[in-house]
Amino acid sequence: EKGGHDWFMRKEIFEQPKAVADTLLDRLTLDGALKLDEIRISPDELRRVDKIVIIACGTASYAGLVAKYAIEHWTRIPCEVELASEFRYRDPIVGPSTLVVAISQSGETADTLMAIRHAKEQRARVLAICNTNGSTIPRESDAVIYTHAGPEIGVASTKGFLTQVVACYLLGLYLAQVHQTKFGDEIAAVLAELEALPEKIQHVLDGQQQALDLAQELVDRPSVLFLGRHVGYPIALEGALKLKELAYIHAEGFAAGELKHGPIALIEDGLPVFVVVPPQGRDMLHDKVVSNIQEVRARGARTIVLAEADDPEVEPFADVLIKLPKVSTLLQPMLAIVPLQLFACELATLKGHDVDQPRNLAKSVTVE
Ligand code: F6R
Repeated sequence: EKGGHDWFMRKEIFEQPKAVADTLLDRLTLDGALKLDEIRISPDELRRVDKIVIIACGTASYAGLVAKYAIEHWTRIPCEVELASEFRYRDPIVGPSTLVVAISQSGETADTLMAIRHAKEQRARVLAICNTNGSTIPRESDAVIYTHAGPEIGVASTKGFLTQVVACYLLGLYLAQVHQTKFGDEIAAVLAELEALPEKIQHVLDGQQQALDLAQELVDRPSVLFLGRHVGYPIALEGALKLKELAYIHAEGFAAGELKHGPIALIEDGLPVFVVVPPQGRDMLHDKVVSNIQEVRARGARTIVLAEADDPEVEPFADVLIKLPKVSTLLQPMLAIVPLQLFACELATLKGHDVDQPRNLAKSVTVE
């Protein structure tokens, strides 16, 4: 049942190319437009949306954080991301023109469920992004986009996360289509890139040995840091969460730009620091992250750098370089997270932990 893998989690990591492809299936039309009739909120109503609030917990909230960058960029509609457990205790400003997007793999997370009930009381429209047919959160929502990842059994979310990002991107592109904030050909270009993604994820999986070797090397380290900027920042958070929950070691993700505001004090000789480097491009993003790598390396960090293949600027500063296929900035998270998942899974295996059932955790958290 684990398809030859030692853990469900590893099996699910390897299912990601298919999970992403299945989530795209039947939602793209031949003429490059997006078909999301299943949303059941009319285009007229969607045109009235002037604010998006994403609510979720844990890994799903990091998928939401990635999506915020893309949704705001494509739609120019303000998009907030909030932890479900915080949302309803702070008198949030939502109303009939707010689209609340609840992301939940299980569809049963109590915090998220309570948050959408609160949003509905404020007359917001609620759309669920969910992997479990007929579960409570989609049932109580006005609309739903299902991720078609298939059952996720490992407690740590992997294919759930990737497909949540994909579903949020489809929503963002659909809103851009409805609000006409992007031209059809721009939307088509992103959709084509999404369609090409499963093959690129497979390519990253084929290079798994590097992540496994790294786990061997770092198995006795008490602490690991992760840095990223822009969409790489939530990937740093997610990479750290995977390591905490599976390997039970201290791991933290930071926005690379925040280093000098405090976290750089943590850097000491030999501390492993993973850095997600955005693709090379016209903006300053890439160069800023390269100088962050230099800053931590100069203070003794062992740098493990995830960057696009053929990035000559990072090579001199990477103690270990994990090469990612070429892809645009907004799609890079779906590649960069994969080696971090493999690394956490392997490290936990080497430590003798139960990867599928980490201590103290449950697959769906049905109490607040
Ligand atoms: C971490 C993890 C959790 C869940 C969170 C939300 O690997 O799996 O952080 O992401 O409990 O669960 P769902 O998506 O089912 O609402």
